[in-house]
Amino acid sequence: MDILSKAKALESAGKKVIHFEVGESDFNTAEPIVSAGIRALKEGKTKYTSAEGLPALRNQISQYYSNIGLDIPETRIFVTSGASSGLMLLSALLFNRGDEVFLPDPGYPCNEAFLAQVGAKPIRIQLKASEQFGFSANALETLWSSCSKGILLASPSNPLGAVLDEMLLQEIAQFVERKGGFFILDEIYQGLIHENESYSSGLAVTDDLFIINSFSKFFGMTGWRLGWVVIPSSAAELFSRLAQNLIISPNAPAQYAALAAFSKEAMMIHAERAEFFSHRAKKLSLGLKELGFEIPLMPQGGFYLYVDVSKFGMPSEEFCRRLLDDFHIAVTPGTDFGTHEASSYVRFSYTTSEVNIDEGLSRLAKAIPLLC
Ligand SMILES: Cc1ncc(COP(=O)(O)O)c(C=O)c1O
Repeated sequence: MDILSKAKALESAGKKVIHFEVGESDFNTAEPIVSAGIRALKEGKTKYTSAEGLPALRNQISQYYSNIGLDIPETRIFVTSGASSGLMLLSALLFNRGDEVFLPDPGYPCNEAFLAQVGAKPIRIQLKASEQFGFSANALETLWSSCSKGILLASPSNPLGAVLDEMLLQEIAQFVERKGGFFILDEIYQGLIHENESYSSGLAVTDDLFIINSFSKFFGMTGWRLGWVVIPSSAAELFSRLAQNLIISPNAPAQYAALAAFSKEAMMIHAERAEFFSHRAKKLSLGLKELGFEIPLMPQGGFYLYVDVSKFGMPSEEFCRRLLDDFHIAVTPGTDFGTHEASSYVRFSYTTSEVNIDEGLSRLAKAIPLLC
């Protein structure tokens, strides 16, 4: 966000900035969703809904899973105010003061804040570039203590773009179940899977996990603030009570708009955009590699690339500052996503056009000799 506001200040001063720092789609929300939102507002659908979300929307989400071969009853689906409120509510539901929860490092930075609000303690699992940022359930065995209560992962992940395969998901689910802990899987980038990569939802592996999802990324609705969780049936009543007390209701017009997000027309738009992200991932990663950047893990989904900049001999924050100040290229330092080797990495988002990616790469080509 600091980088983004600095970049905006440069733009106000008339500079053309190439944005590789933005964590949201550059496409506007698809037209069928916008029209449905306007219709909802005009029809006065502006009152509280039930805390669980509109029955019709829960049903549509259930149908969405059914279309990918997963039988998830709508009674396990709860609409939230973005993945963020799902993460907040699940943290409140599952964890208490002093509980330890495992998070990947690097990983989505706000997760620590959701845990902090309930006094739970994040335990970082250091992901190593030499192991392509992977990890095994065995690694958890050595870290798990009597205070450990769960693990929170994402697939595809931010900032790595890593997808967890079905076998690993199964191993983790079995391990956590054996320990009596909770497994939360953030699937907010579901649908943004790159060409030739396979993907498995955690729901294909077990019903005994907590899924975070959102309309923000694949559905391109960041500002509408709408997401959902899928939880085991046994937790449904408690989750409802928490949602009623802490949220009252997710955004009503956004929910009516989101009903149109699953229409055939809108799904075609989302799928086409996902293909664009896949092409851009290829273009940007190949371009960066040609310029000599190391990318330990080629992204499998989402819209990020995690790139090694250690050879420039400066911490990633300084690297980002110089790229922005001197070349008007905005990227995010690895230190936003954890501490493990974070000063050696930056995150590039490919939420910008191919024309901008080409321009960014040609600016980088000029920058490299001056940065070394
Ligand atoms: C992994 C991950 N989870 C959750 C969120 C928050 O998403 P939302 O906009 O749905 O609150 C983000 C946002 O970038 C994210 O990257």
